[in-house]
Amino acid sequence: MSEPSKSVAELEIEDIDGVGPTTARKMREAGINSVMELATAVPEELAADLGGSKDSASNFIMAAQKLLRESGVLDNEFTTADVELEKRKSLLRCTTGSKALDELLLGGIETQAITEFYGEFGSGKSQICHTLCVTSQLPPSEGGLGGAVILIDTEGTFRPERVDQIARARGLNSDEVLKKIAICKAYNSSHLELVVKSLGKYIDDFKAKLIIIDSIISLHRAEFAGRGTLADRQQRLNGIMHKLVRTAEIYNVAIVVTNQVQSTPDTFFGDPTKPAGGNVIGHASTYRVYLRKAGTDRVAKIIDSPYHPYQDTRFTVNEKGIDDIEDSPKKKKDDD
Ligand SMILES: Nc1ncnc2c1ncn2[C@@H]1O[C@H](COP(=O)(O)OP(=O)(O)OP(=O)(O)O)[C@@H](O)[C@H]1O
Ligand SMILES: [Mg+2]
Repeated sequence: MSEPSKSVAELEIEDIDGVGPTTARKMREAGINSVMELATAVPEELAADLGGSKDSASNFIMAAQKLLRESGVLDNEFTTADVELEKRKSLLRCTTGSKALDELLLGGIETQAITEFYGEFGSGKSQICHTLCVTSQLPPSEGGLGGAVILIDTEGTFRPERVDQIARARGLNSDEVLKKIAICKAYNSSHLELVVKSLGKYIDDFKAKLIIIDSIISLHRAEFAGRGTLADRQQRLNGIMHKLVRTAEIYNVAIVVTNQVQSTPDTFFGDPTKPAGGNVIGHASTYRVYLRKAGTDRVAKIIDSPYHPYQDTRFTVNEKGIDDIEDSPKKKKDDD
């Protein structure tokens, strides 16, 4: 995977054929600040942002992709499988804090992928996010990604005190860890969409290797409550997921999103443990993990994975964040 080179960082969106000062200004207002961001834009959204046709938006996007290809940043349209395998080798895996959960995920959460954790309230979704904020900063030799974290909090549930506790319990310098977590509180769905659109710039700025969105659905779910607006909501969620998929791949970062479960009346006759957001989130997620409470433990189950065996595992939540049940001091005390 080639990282953006210096010359690419110096490219301006004005360098693209047909992009004049007015178009460039509109793009920047829409959160598109670089050729890379334009290359990964969604045509429908860009057309709306520019107030133009979808065709002309697509042309800008293709021109940006061409420019990046010529600079060697984007792979050519076709690759051969051996090159693809080589690219997969630059993939890194990050420990969740629990060996059992890591094993279920075949080594932890992956870069170039979106891992979705869904489950009911208290099932441990946000606890996983807090723990990953710490473990991802470990060097790759110790199971981390060796980079900073961008955390987009849509529910106001991020607690730096909890990160502090987890870092200390894991014997790390908590001050250093906290400094490398960039928090963004998204206050409505449009704000979230804008931040996601500009993720590339933030990844470069913060040197982030992990992006967390906790949760992906809550703002859209609250704002598009009536059934009449469901199609609109799905389209906008689709835009976000689409952008995330490409961001994970192009920047070689891990992306973790949390999702809620559907409840009545949405699924009055359906499965109450189904993730919210319908197929839009499911199709874009590389891995989906269903979490549920089982006493004081948690059970994680991999859903619809192309190559993970369909199985589940148990872990627990303690002062270290996510942890293995047998390593949990509380459990050991119980056993005494
Ligand atoms: N310091 C801690 N030590 C042990 N367990 C903890 C600690 N902090 C949180 N927990 C456990 O984690 C649970 C909360 O989990 P979490 O916040 O991850 O839920 P969630 O899946 O994000 O739910 P929601 O849908 O409401 O966001 C608490 O009920 C508690 O059982
Ligand atoms: Mg939560």
